[in-house]
Amino acid sequence: MPSSKKIVILYGSETGNAHDFATILSHRLHRWHFPHTFCSIGDYDAQDILKCKYLFIICSTTGQGELPRNATSKRETPVTLWSFLKKKNLPPNFLNHIQTAMFGLGDSSYPKFNYAIRKLHQRIVTQLGANELFDRLEADDQAMAGSNKGTGLGVESVYFEYERKALEFLLKKFPNRRLGNKIIKREELDPEIYLEPISYLQIADENANEDLNETKIEFQGDESVKIGKVNINKRITSHDHFQDIRQFTFSSIENIEEEKYDPGDTAAIYPCNTDEDVSNFLENQSHWLEVADKPLDFINGVPKDLKDGGLIKPLTLRNLLKYHCDFMSIPRTSFFLKTWTFATDITKMERGKEQLNDQKEKLRQFATDQDMQDLYDYCNRPRRSILEVLEDFLSVKLPWKYVLDYLPIIKPRYYSISSGPRDPNIELTVAVVKYKTILRRIRKGICTNYIALLQEGEQVRYKLQNNHIIKQEFLNRPIILVGPGVGLAPLLSVIKGEVSDNMRLFFGCRYKDKDYIYRDTLEDWSRKDKISLSTSFSRDSENSPGVKYVQDNLWRLGEEITELVINKDAIFFLCGSSGKMPIQIRLTFVEMLKKWGGFKNEEAAKKYLKDMEKCDRYIQETW
Ligand SMILES: Cc1cc2nc3c(=O)[nH]c(=O)nc-3n(C[C@H](O)[C@H](O)[C@H](O)COP(=O)(O)OP(=O)(O)OC[C@H]3O[C@@H](n4cnc5c(N)ncnc54)[C@H](O)[C@@H]3O)c2cc1C
Ligand SMILES: NC(=O)c1ccc[n+]([C@@H]2O[C@H](COP(=O)([O-])OP(=O)(O)OC[C@H]3O[C@@H](n4cnc5c(N)ncnc54)[C@H](OP(=O)(O)O)[C@@H]3O)[C@@H](O)[C@H]2O)c1
Ligand SMILES: Cc1cc2nc3c(=O)[nH]c(=O)nc-3n(C[C@H](O)[C@H](O)[C@H](O)COP(=O)(O)O)c2cc1C
Repeated sequence: MPSSKKIVILYGSETGNAHDFATILSHRLHRWHFPHTFCSIGDYDAQDILKCKYLFIICSTTGQGELPRNATSKRETPVTLWSFLKKKNLPPNFLNHIQTAMFGLGDSSYPKFNYAIRKLHQRIVTQLGANELFDRLEADDQAMAGSNKGTGLGVESVYFEYERKALEFLLKKFPNRRLGNKIIKREELDPEIYLEPISYLQIADENANEDLNETKIEFQGDESVKIGKVNINKRITSHDHFQDIRQFTFSSIENIEEEKYDPGDTAAIYPCNTDEDVSNFLENQSHWLEVADKPLDFINGVPKDLKDGGLIKPLTLRNLLKYHCDFMSIPRTSFFLKTWTFATDITKMERGKEQLNDQKEKLRQFATDQDMQDLYDYCNRPRRSILEVLEDFLSVKLPWKYVLDYLPIIKPRYYSISSGPRDPNIELTVAVVKYKTILRRIRKGICTNYIALLQEGEQVRYKLQNNHIIKQEFLNRPIILVGPGVGLAPLLSVIKGEVSDNMRLFFGCRYKDKDYIYRDTLEDWSRKDKISLSTSFSRDSENSPGVKYVQDNLWRLGEEITELVINKDAIFFLCGSSGKMPIQIRLTFVEMLKKWGGFKNEEAAKKYLKDMEKCDRYIQETW
């Protein structure tokens, strides 16, 4: 795949959605013979912006309206593009030479909807003079394909509009291309041809007989990953409750002094697949078995995506599958785009060539159809994993040397720290993901089930993430803490860290006797007046008469809480599941401001809330 500095695709992605769309765009551009640069915003060499002419940016929003980590943190370059572009002394025509098109991914249940792409747009277009190829497009998770019954408003439709406009522009501008000394009409590459990635695997030593499966493993190349030793892994919901929630604590086996964190900070945990799942994968791709434990190395260097968390050593296919390849995740479009041509194994087809062709055609449709309803119904709705897709499509015989091109990389998962900043142990509160799909299959979350199986004394790989959630100057102001369910996790750290002597906690769960987590601690704090506690039990009216959810208690105490917000500059910190809960709490908050805050109308109340958000006085940490 040739590269060029003139056309550039940059992405910023926290959980992989923006990365996937950027991968599809890059793939399409390669197939139309447009050499280009493709990397995360963080990995882009800032100096190259002077050589760039056509800049395509796909970026999601994370945190409290922030750019994803791979957009702001540097891995390869000394200065990130974003930190460079934010320099105050750049002239207003600095990016005049660039034509750009931007696509943002966000979720309208967050108050700072699509803020990251808007920040990029504001700086790159409005302030530094880049020209727009077409208006910025913004997608909303709340309108995922399938959820809106094919009305064309899903995230994917917005992406395909972006791709269509981008390609239309490039094809009009560059209808021909150079091939050797000739200029020829630009045509799309034969769809049957697989585009070989720059970096791929090879056997390091054909003659090695050593069984590397038994060798001790280690991770290399990421110094910031720490090793923790598990101290407590205890279920804290009753055994007859559907949801297993864990109190999970570990301590650094290295220097405890270094482990500084504040309330609101998170720990990234690096999970792995189970040996059973790895065996099932190898059984499905049985031609991999003979090389599964042979030593490998990379042609053209280690792919960048593998550097976060360090690369497994010894490098074998089995270890890559266990520690790096996310084949238990739901396949994204790019997986089909890169693998449909490998539906070639007729030996596994009972109906021979006809069945092989049917399978290949179906996979091709998943890869290329812009109406993604079929793909959504087959993969997302029943939450099928990549492995299950391969078990359905037995004709797919994958070449192992490209495994890191078509399988996604396992990403770390983030957990709010529940321990207080002075606690030598790091404590997390983890809801174990386990549910039945519409196909009645049990589905387990990778990281939470990895955690659930960890025994006392075992090791866990982690990084601490500083989020600066509560501003220094806000310490000691009254704080209103709202956390239904596992949303309690970071609030515990706030309380233990004693950020204020006026802390109001609103906690809610389903039943007083089943999922009222940390009940003894909360009630003890309440008795000792460390906090003022309001609880609600949504399915236990006997113990929660007239109050179902946390917002009912907020409303009940509305006058007092509003007085704290308006007259005492209180902070409002809301945590838990994303979706309806934060939206409804926000609505309740606006109603409270209207009723008791002295605001004339809805607009004025909303403006006050927006101002609170701007200065991080209304904090929403939802996931
Ligand atoms: C800043 C931040 C803080 C967080 N803090 C915490 C915390 O303190 N505690 C905590 O437990 N988690 C927390 N999380 C969530 C955590 O990071 C993981 O996303 C979560 O534990 C799931 O990880 P997993 O690997 O087990 O599941 P995965 O393998 O990633 O699978 C999760 C997927 O399963 C799906 N799913 C889950 N339940 C169902 C269901 N019933 N029906 C259908 N689909 C379902 C969801 O769509 C989700 O996409 C936090 C996330 C962020 C971003
Ligand atoms: N689809 C599911 O099965 C499903 C849904 C959510 C969470 N989960 C799982 O449970 C884990 C923990 O989730 P969680 O921390 O959110 O715990 P939770 O136990 O699902 O929710 C905590 C409390 O919040 C209530 N709640 C629900 N909707 C609300 C709303 N709009 N406003 C205010 N409160 C609301 C719940 O009530 P009610 O539940 O009684 O309405 C419950 O009392 C997740 O990681 C996930 O794995 C599964
Ligand atoms: C912890 C967290 C914080 C988020 N914060 C915001 C936000 O402030 N604004 C927004 O529009 N979307 C927000 N989102 C939604 C994501 O932008 C959206 O899910 C997007 O599809 C993720 O893309 P990615 O996989 O490329 O990171 C947030 C999602 C998570 C999990």
